[in-house]
Amino acid sequence: MSEPIDKPATTSVPVHEPIARRWSPRAFDPDAAVGETRLRALLEAARWAPSFGNTQPARYLVGRRGDAVYGTILRTLTERNADWAKRAAVLLLAVAVTENTKGTIPYAEYSAGLATENLVLQATVSGLAAHQMAGFDADAARAAFSLPPHARPLVAIAVGLQAAPEVLDEDSLIERERAPRSRLPLTKMAFGAWGEPAFAPDRP
Ligand SMILES: Cc1cc2nc3c(=O)[nH]c(=O)nc-3n(C[C@H](O)[C@H](O)[C@H](O)COP(=O)(O)O)c2cc1C
Repeated sequence: MSEPIDKPATTSVPVHEPIARRWSPRAFDPDAAVGETRLRALLEAARWAPSFGNTQPARYLVGRRGDAVYGTILRTLTERNADWAKRAAVLLLAVAVTENTKGTIPYAEYSAGLATENLVLQATVSGLAAHQMAGFDADAARAAFSLPPHARPLVAIAVGLQAAPEVLDEDSLIERERAPRSRLPLTKMAFGAWGEPAFAPDRP
């Protein structure tokens, strides 16, 4: 077995270390547990995310390996995702509450996304890996968890200790695990006028 793969972001100037280090692996250690303190920290990080008007629309179903919540989230995943996510110690389902007593919550999904990024970065800092998945059956999740109509499942999240790529049982997944990460250059996403780079081209 080789080592778990690091794929730090390449940036033109340094960024905060956990942001550079975070990535979405599929190789999880099937035996490693995530202790309650570390798990709580993920949800605390999400709880303290900013949200529109402090509406706090993010909710999470928390599944620990072997429990019913975990099994239910796993069953809602696409086969392709379940093939690797089944090894993660924790499976979460991120849900946005889209209404409160005042009516529709503006930016509910946006705010829930911010909470989830907090969670994912906390996982990185806590020595864990997290991988978000839109590939799951939202209707099945709604039904299985008896979600109210104003609770919108957004993503499932696999969390656990990262493992060596060989833990994956498909060659194509091992290849993807080793493949480099890529991003648009800053010149294509930070604009002065629309389409016009706000910064000089990235240094090589
Ligand atoms: C909303 C969302 C949905 C995603 N859905 C899936 C998914 O269903 N399956 C998967 O393997 N990865 C999924 N990903 C992971 C992305 O493919 C990954 O974040 C992207 O390729 C960038 O790679 P990085 O996270 O390693 O930087 C998802 C990520 C996000 C934010």
